[in-house]
Formats: sequence, structure tokens, C-alpha cells
Amino acid sequence: MSKRTKLEKFAENQRLENVFENFSYEDPTLFVNVLQKVDYKGKWKSDYFKNAKPLVLELACGRGEYSIGLAQMYPNQNYIGVDVKGARIWTGAKRAIDLEFSQVAFIRSKIETLPHFFAAEEVDQIWIIFSDPFLRKENRRLTSIYYLDSYLKYTHLQTSFHLKTDDDTLYEFSLKTIADHPNYEIVQCSNNIYAEALQHPALEIKTYYEKMHLQKNKTIKYIEFKRVK
Ligand SMILES: C[S@@+](CC[C@H](N)C(=O)[O-])C[C@H]1O[C@@H](n2cnc3c(N)ncnc32)[C@H](O)[C@@H]1O
Repeated sequence: MSKRTKLEKFAENQRLENVFENFSYEDPTLFVNVLQKVDYKGKWKSDYFKNAKPLVLELACGRGEYSIGLAQMYPNQNYIGVDVKGARIWTGAKRAIDLEFSQVAFIRSKIETLPHFFAAEEVDQIWIIFSDPFLRKENRRLTSIYYLDSYLKYTHLQTSFHLKTDDDTLYEFSLKTIADHPNYEIVQCSNNIYAEALQHPALEIKTYYEKMHLQKNKTIKYIEFKRVK
């Protein structure tokens, strides 16, 4: 089969049953199966996954390696990878279909739109994997106050957060914003996860970006944090 272009992947996403797409920040609607509107807010577990298992989000999921990898390690959970880039999501969505992983889905949307798609307390775990460090735009980092505040709209007091990065600036920034935020507390952190025993078994999953960073001999950092209020 010939290799698909980005545009072909983008178009094919509309026909994948596990890809939900938002086309406009101003109109927070999700579409699936060639432009059918869906509203699973507050009902992802009961109406989409059709179970009561924990719901895990992978933010900035790219090709969805964590959603797939976590689903292999922990099959008894539901996973939704979120990214704005359609061609990357397509790779994860096709892999989930090939593996017959009905517990893995994807939302193509900006992360800032998620409060429209998830209800209070709906999300049980969040992984933030090699998100962009936005070196000149602190407020776009996924651990800026803006995003930490927005996660409060769809998480609960037991929700755990896991951030993995190669970037020193994002790591130090995140340690500070999380520690300073009244609703969160740092559980554990490492500025070089492979120099010691892994703090979480799932840290062994390596994404496209992590492999690139490891090739450049970058150290990989990790922060686990939780909601306390
Ligand atoms: C450096 S890549 C990492 C991808 C993947 N997690 C990996 O490790 O291979 C960062 C991803 O974050 C996505 N991203 C950045 N800001 C975003 C936002 N506000 N909403 C949705 N996706 C975003 C980008 O589209 C990109 O795919």
C-alpha cells in the first residue's frame, strides 16, 4: 500500500470510528464518522466505552504511543489521546484499530477546549508526554497556571498527573507552577529517570519524540503530581 500523505490521513480521520474531531475553537462540537455530531460530555465511560473503568487522558499525544502502551500494560482502563495534529492522531488511531483496542480513542482538538468535552470529575489520570516547552511563551505550556486551572474542570481529588519531558526549562517551570498552585502537590520527580529505578512502570514506554531526544543524549525528566483540593 502506498504511503499516505498528511492530507490523506487528515481526511481519513473523519472515517475512523475512534477519532473525534473539533474543527473550531469557537464552536466546541465533536464530530465522528463523517461529520456526525456527538456529545459524550459526562458520558464517555457509560455511552462510548460502555463500562465504568477509569478514564485516562494522554495530552499532546502525537502518535498516541502512551495511550497504546498504557492500554497494553493496563488493559482495564479507558484511554483518550488528545492532540491538535490530525496526521499524528491518525497513526495512533489506526494502530488501536489494528490491535482491536476498543478501549483507546482519540480527540483531535486543542487541549484548551477539553472542558467542553469532559464533565466535572470525569477524568481519572492524565499523562503529559513531551509537550512543547514553548520557550518564549510560558502561558502555552501545559503546566502553566491557565492549564492547571483548566484541568480542575474535569478531574477529581484522586486524579494523578504524569509529566515526562526532555526539557530543563519546562521541567523547572512545571515543578514551580505545580508547587505554587493551591490545588496540586508534587508526589515525586526525577531529573534523569533512567539513572535510577523507574518511578512508574509506564515510564519505559518511549515515544517518537523521546527516541529522538535519547539519540541526542538528552536526559529524560518526570514529575508525578496530584490534586489535593
Ligand atoms: C513535541 S510533540 C510530542 C508528541 C508525543 N507526545 C511524543 O512524545 O512523540 C508535542 C505535541 O503537542 C501537540 N500540542 C501542543 N500544544 C497543543 C495544544 N494546545 N492542544 C493540542 N495539542 C497540542 C502538538 O501538536 C504536538 O503533536
